[in-house]
Amino acid sequence: MVPELEKETVRMKDPEQVKKIVSRLKKGGAVQLQVISDFDMTLTRFGFNGRRCPTSHNIIDNSRVISEEGKKRLKDLLHYYYPIEIDPYRTVADKLPLMVEWWTKAHDLLSQQKILKSDISQIVKESDVMLRDGFNVFFNQLYQSQVPLFIFSAGVGDVLEEIIRQAGMFHPNVNVVSNYMDFDDDGVLRGFKGPLIHTYNKNNTVLKNTEYFQQLCMKTNILLLGDSMGDLSMADGVANVENILRVGFLNDKIEEQREKYMEAYDVVLEKDETLDVANGILQFILAKT
Ligand code: TMP
Ligand code: MG
Repeated sequence: MVPELEKETVRMKDPEQVKKIVSRLKKGGAVQLQVISDFDMTLTRFGFNGRRCPTSHNIIDNSRVISEEGKKRLKDLLHYYYPIEIDPYRTVADKLPLMVEWWTKAHDLLSQQKILKSDISQIVKESDVMLRDGFNVFFNQLYQSQVPLFIFSAGVGDVLEEIIRQAGMFHPNVNVVSNYMDFDDDGVLRGFKGPLIHTYNKNNTVLKNTEYFQQLCMKTNILLLGDSMGDLSMADGVANVENILRVGFLNDKIEEQREKYMEAYDVVLEKDETLDVANGILQFILAKT
């Protein structure tokens, strides 16, 4: 059905179940399909040539507009909180307040740096960010088939929108919910617009209006793409899910996290920096035959 599911990067707890879901998604076709995806480390690469690629936050943290002192403090936060974020032995309830703490501290630091709205485009241009291989096929085939793509991100909305725009892929079927910067009248960053979205509250509690999903009430079939255990709740705002296929990139601490990912995601991708599997599934669903 989908040759890409034979790639050696693919792991499935229940391949028969995956087959069943994919067949049902195919039956519903473009008319019933919507895609809900995370951004950082899901649509963008985790690594390239043995080096880590930046998240939308890291892009700003590493840029020339942040002071050396600011850079150091942001790095310290990353080194302290990131291992907690991905720790498979801690519960979500335990991690939740710590994630709020990380995001709040990071956003406060960024807000002290006099970042200009007009800097964002150049910061993105000069960054090492990379969308996953096959991103153009991914965005273009969804656009051509009029399948809505909902990007639900705990990253920085202004930055990730700019990444997609510079790639020429910000088509009208793309909708983003994320943390957006709040600039004053002079275009200087003064904070972030609420509600705060972090790794473990990506659900309907932060979707200010569920109007988006209500409009899509015929879109009862979902392809969900994520890389964190927190991404699994991204489709909770959809009232009438009939079929959902969850595809998860397992990027980091692979051995330790494998069991949890295999339980939670229908398809787990290990050391796969491409969107091949998502594209293969979409091609199968959207083919007109
Ligand atoms: P997401 O991919 O689930 O939307 O989450 C965004 C990622 O951003 C998450 O893995 C943690 C990361 N992050 C940073 O890299 N730097 C930061 O300052 C913060 C707050 C988050
Ligand atoms: Mg992510």
